[in-house]
Amino acid sequence: MDKQQFLDEYKAVFNEEAKDVFFSPGRINVIGEHTDYNGGHVFPCAISVGTYGVYGPREDTTVAIYSANSAKEENSKIITFDINDDQPQTAKDEKWVNYFKGMLVYLKQRGFEINHGFNFYIHGYLPYGSGLSSSASIEMLMGDILKEEFNLDIDQIELVKLGQKTENDFVGLNSGIMDQFAVGMGKKDNAIFLDCNTLEYKYLPLALGDYEILIMSTNKTHSLAGSKYNERVQECTEAVNRLNKKLDIKKLGEIDSKTFDQYTYLINDDTIIRRARHAVSENERTKRAIDAMEAGNLEELGRLINASHVSLKYDYEVTGKELDTLAETAWEQSGCLGARMVGGGFAGSAIAIVKKSAAEEFKANVGKIYKEKIGYDASFYDAEIVDGPHKL
Ligand code: GLA
Repeated sequence: MDKQQFLDEYKAVFNEEAKDVFFSPGRINVIGEHTDYNGGHVFPCAISVGTYGVYGPREDTTVAIYSANSAKEENSKIITFDINDDQPQTAKDEKWVNYFKGMLVYLKQRGFEINHGFNFYIHGYLPYGSGLSSSASIEMLMGDILKEEFNLDIDQIELVKLGQKTENDFVGLNSGIMDQFAVGMGKKDNAIFLDCNTLEYKYLPLALGDYEILIMSTNKTHSLAGSKYNERVQECTEAVNRLNKKLDIKKLGEIDSKTFDQYTYLINDDTIIRRARHAVSENERTKRAIDAMEAGNLEELGRLINASHVSLKYDYEVTGKELDTLAETAWEQSGCLGARMVGGGFAGSAIAIVKKSAAEEFKANVGKIYKEKIGYDASFYDAEIVDGPHKL
């Protein structure tokens, strides 16, 4: 993408020269799904599809935000609020502003000085609800811009935590920290093995040799805040409560499957047992996937990725017809080591590890079968693994 393009777009809207252009990535997750809020492990990375933001300071205390992605009429697209206004936007078509506003509000609450307004132009390339974390991309974009433009002395992981706080307390989704961490701490060509309980992490090169990761979008969007996401969080909390008749744990990530087997009877509910079994088994698969990566055993990594999808489908029940069709069709293709849904689920995107030389045939075959079964096209992205948010 060309920086000048965004400077021009800003000028056309605000009628003045901009100061700076920033980029913030989206994310995929190799394995470790719905483990973050359960205190388990994840293995995500930042991708080159993301959100661009153009910043220009103002002398008053107004924040004026224009989104190129907004569906509003052109003349009502600029949304304004005062830097001292700490309430979420409530109008239905303005709620997306809360991902930005929350970051501003919480940085100010933490005592950081943001003492004048600004104009802000954004252009996102992650379709909303695509499962590639457009929301964390936006939160970390805003965090990075404010950090840089107002010289805020804040550690990157603290900024990541404010991103999660924005999501939880300002937007209302009880998500874990994976997305903000993956975006905010992204490193070129590396995935991040993160313990969501302790926030200990290490970078691992995603060295896939003759293989590549393909992103497949169902082109069906999900809305997590309105979906069953919070219900899953609640079901896992209930599992912990029931296990604690004999155990003393805070999160399911603290136990292995041996301990889980021994005490499953305490849960005594078919649905909650399956939810908890996913959280425990997925955490173990993620650790085994790291061992496989480190040993260069891509076949084993692929098998674990497939098993992750199966567990998300049958035990956690967060896939749905579109994601199942993508993953299960991918499994049938020659040159595919593994495939599964990524992110919150219900719709959105999946990934597949595919032999580079077979990629074109793979996309054609999976695309054709998806269209026959679902009735509209899937999309395929060739994304690179990139660094976190930065100024261009
Ligand atoms: C969403 C949430 C993350 C994580 C995933 C599922 O992307 O924002 O915190 O829970 O779902 O792994």
